[in-house]
Amino acid sequence: MKLKTTIILSAGFATLCAGAGAFSAEPFSGYTLLRQETRAMQDDDFSNPGMEAVAKGAAMFTAIGKSGKSCSTCHGEDGKQLDAKHLARYPVLDARTKRPITLQQRVINEWAEQNGNAPLKYESDEALALEAYVRGLARGQTVNVQTDGAMAPFYEAGKKLYETRAGQLNMACSSCHDDFAGQKLRAQVLSQGQTNGFPLYRLATGKLTGSQTRFNQCYDAFRANPYPFGSEEYTLLELYANARGNGLKIETPAVRF
Ligand code: HEC
Ligand code: HEC
Repeated sequence: MKLKTTIILSAGFATLCAGAGAFSAEPFSGYTLLRQETRAMQDDDFSNPGMEAVAKGAAMFTAIGKSGKSCSTCHGEDGKQLDAKHLARYPVLDARTKRPITLQQRVINEWAEQNGNAPLKYESDEALALEAYVRGLARGQTVNVQTDGAMAPFYEAGKKLYETRAGQLNMACSSCHDDFAGQKLRAQVLSQGQTNGFPLYRLATGKLTGSQTRFNQCYDAFRANPYPFGSEEYTLLELYANARGNGLKIETPAVRF
């Protein structure tokens, strides 16, 4: 099965290489490539299958932890006291560590440190539900990740990971999402691999999917080894991936194939 995927991908990539890759720097959301029915599903909260996880995250947000507090004790009943514009800036520099921190890592930390609960595993259903609820509070906000100043070296390190070729197919993220975005890979038109809809619901797997799980799926697609969830590498990769989408609107929870 794996071998078959490789052959199909290689064949698809050879076809891609035959047509010159036009790199478009203007970011566009994966939403623009969706079929009409899938867009309609995303746009309607009642039919968007990602809303189930968001509802679960909302319940977690108001659940009292061992500290006697819930998230809403400090951030308001519906998270109103969180700054949606700032949520659209993640990953941000963590004041404590002076290193980038993803939104999922932030909510995982808050869950344990502020609420006194048992730690959540990165990319677990619970961590994703809570992240989806919190990022969903910023739906419609403009992605605005810092790339300069103290963030610059981290951004550059993320960019380097994005452009590093690996695996049996000797490809990088940029091989598909920069060089061939907007072009056909077999039956599918490639997107820029934007993260503005994450966590999102994947129809192909029937699951709420975090951006780092999607990174794993892409590494697997080009037969390279992924990094562990929540690792330094994935934090940097998420930083760069999110920043590539600066200017796009947050769609969480998006629906994708
Ligand atoms: C005891 C009060 C308290 C509780 C309980 C609490 N938080 Fe916080 N939270 C804070 C404070 C204080 C900050 C820091 C504010 C800042 O950095 O400006 C913060 C920061 C955050 C941020 C970062 C906001 C930003 O703009 O970067 C998020 C997201 C967040 N909390 C989510 C949660 C979630 C989810 C929970 C429940 C699991 C939770 N918090 C529980 C007090 C609390
Ligand atoms: C062999 C081509 C290929 C490579 C290389 C590749 N991807 Fe993808 N990626 C895809 C395909 C196909 C999809 C699903 C359709 C689409 O959105 O383009 C996808 C989707 C994505 C998405 C979801 C976009 C959305 O709107 O839902 C993200 C994020 C992503 N890729 C990131 C990455 C990252 C990070 C890397 C490097 C680790 C990478 N990809 C490498 C082919 C690739």
